[in-house]
Amino acid sequence: MDFSEKDSVDAVLASFADTPDPRLHEIVDGLVRHLHGFLREVRPSIAEWEQGIEFLTAIGQKCDEHRQEFILFSDVMGASMLVETMEAERQAGGASGATGERADATASTVLGPFHVVASPERALGDTIDSLGTGEPCLIEGSVTAPDGTRIPGARIDVWQADEQGSYDVESGGRQPLGNGRGLFTADDEGRFWFSSIVPAHYPIPTDGPVGALLRATKRHPYRPAHVHFIVEAPGYVPVTTHVFVEGSEYLDSDAVFAVKQSLVRDFATVDDAEAAARHGLPNPFRRARFDVVLQPAAA
Ligand code: BEZ
Ligand code: FE
Repeated sequence: MDFSEKDSVDAVLASFADTPDPRLHEIVDGLVRHLHGFLREVRPSIAEWEQGIEFLTAIGQKCDEHRQEFILFSDVMGASMLVETMEAERQAGGASGATGERADATASTVLGPFHVVASPERALGDTIDSLGTGEPCLIEGSVTAPDGTRIPGARIDVWQADEQGSYDVESGGRQPLGNGRGLFTADDEGRFWFSSIVPAHYPIPTDGPVGALLRATKRHPYRPAHVHFIVEAPGYVPVTTHVFVEGSEYLDSDAVFAVKQSLVRDFATVDDAEAAARHGLPNPFRRARFDVVLQPAAA
């Protein structure tokens, strides 16, 4: 039988019928059905289809060890947040609300494309900022289970942009690699604290094909100010999340749809000379508290 628009899905599904792995079979079938549905809906010309392929090619060509344009594409399309939200729903046993959040555990949000170099291991209380050009802040918190049980030795991996809104890997050498990053181990009571600078809102990278897409569609590229966290401990579900700076621009229009209100914190100005001296900070300084609650892993 000749290939036809009416029978295209059936013809291609039949070609994958012997896929041995059932999950791969389900994924490939879904991709074929939705791809053909998309093409029947938008009816691209050959020139437009070639342009689409060039776009995907350019995304791949933009990737290197410090640049992940495919993650960026997934982020601006809302795909990363949809997958995150469905994963949170699954981890919560399907018992959570429409946001996928489990009410008693810290909400997750996107990983983003900048977790591309290992965070240097640092001691509690260290600073993650080696430049000293931003506004100093102290970030402190605890890691507990939903019932309040403290989790000693939890690992807290953090990374953030500087006051100019750039990460070490995109600063063109202005920041040494590892600046704005730290890997901490919570103390015997599950507490952590470190100093840094107040992050700024920033544009996601716009010098590649994803930036061209945003310009062509009149979308802005900005993310509200935030610090990234991955918190993990044996026996618990790890959480990939952010703490957002209350009052930051773009909290209502994040370019990658990643804001959850439960993750917004006041980076309050504190006038406390004794605390400032104890943490090696000038007085006054900014302080934020981010208590992380991890969900126990299924037995
Ligand atoms: C980030 O927060 O680092 C990020 C997330 C998604 C896209 C670009 C950057
Ligand atoms: Fe970020």
